[in-house]
Amino acid sequence: MSEEERQIQGIREAFEQEFERFAALNLDGMALSDAEARLQELRELRIRQTGKRSAIAGAMKLIGRVAPHERSAFGQLVQSVEKLIAGTIDAAEILLSDHISAARTELERLDVTLPGRRPRTGHLHPITILRQRIEDIFVAMGYAIEDDREIETDYYNFDALNIPEAHPARESQDTFYTTKGFALRSQTSTVQIRAMERRGVPIRILAPGRVFRRDTPDMTHTPMFHQLEGLCVDKGITMGHLKGTVTEWLKRMYGPDTVTRFRPSYFPFTEPSAEFDFSCFKCAGTGVFESERCRPCKGSGWIELGGSGMVHPNVLRSCGVDPTVYSGFAFGFGLERMTALMYNIDDIRHMFENDVRFLEQFR
Ligand code: DAH
Repeated sequence: MSEEERQIQGIREAFEQEFERFAALNLDGMALSDAEARLQELRELRIRQTGKRSAIAGAMKLIGRVAPHERSAFGQLVQSVEKLIAGTIDAAEILLSDHISAARTELERLDVTLPGRRPRTGHLHPITILRQRIEDIFVAMGYAIEDDREIETDYYNFDALNIPEAHPARESQDTFYTTKGFALRSQTSTVQIRAMERRGVPIRILAPGRVFRRDTPDMTHTPMFHQLEGLCVDKGITMGHLKGTVTEWLKRMYGPDTVTRFRPSYFPFTEPSAEFDFSCFKCAGTGVFESERCRPCKGSGWIELGGSGMVHPNVLRSCGVDPTVYSGFAFGFGLERMTALMYNIDDIRHMFENDVRFLEQFR
């Protein structure tokens, strides 16, 4: 064997040695990242073994320099080794690439039978759910929904509502004053005045809103809560219309057997005034549920709900309405207690803590 032939033999052996780890590769179950790393190594090996500065490329350059009578045989030898090296690497690269694309496909495969992930959607607050139910009932009776500001002047908070100078509601122990002459409204009755000024009479409105009182929070009190105010003013409106309207609303809420009760009371902005109750939705007014004292009504059969009355002539006058021509009724009540009764919530503070575990129950 000539010197040159031995050299070529050496190149071939060196390649086979370096290639050994690829020849022994077991692709079965090989992870995608491993296969990609091996492919990268194989490409580096190709450059070393067949690139411009590789041993076999050097040998190719020798072909022209061997004696003419040996050139053809030597050339064939070099080319066959070059072909062997390139072909072996090609074959290994194809195997690795195929494995990689199969592994990628497997990774990206969609299992269309997997259950979907439920998107998190928002939902209404329990107070909003109740408010909307009540609004729907009154809108069906021809009422418009009215909204107004939460910070009011003394005039709208008190004067226009016929609340006397010395009334306890005006005291700063009960009302949140902002700056002098302004306070957070402590009842939605303020909207009666704004609405009559804006719309004139006749008028039929329902005004939901936040109200504020300096109460110490406990299971049944929070310094911010919600009220709904109703107002109806027209010619010839009587207490009968008030009772009929409130009773019809509660029948639509709690069923046709619901009855109401009006008890004489006092509010500065109505005369006469009455508080109203309705027969308990749980025990149907019997006070007993499943032979125990009924819980929502505490065994009385009645649930106390709100205040009402015939709009005081002074209030009508404040709004430029002539009380000798027009009369009206008004009523107002809190939403928290009704919501608590409806959903069996024992502590109304839960409604304002925004704990998702609480809120999620009202989907
Ligand atoms: N504003 C009263 C309260 O907060 C409730 C009320 C009573 C509203 C009588 C009225 C009414 O409109 O006529 O307790």
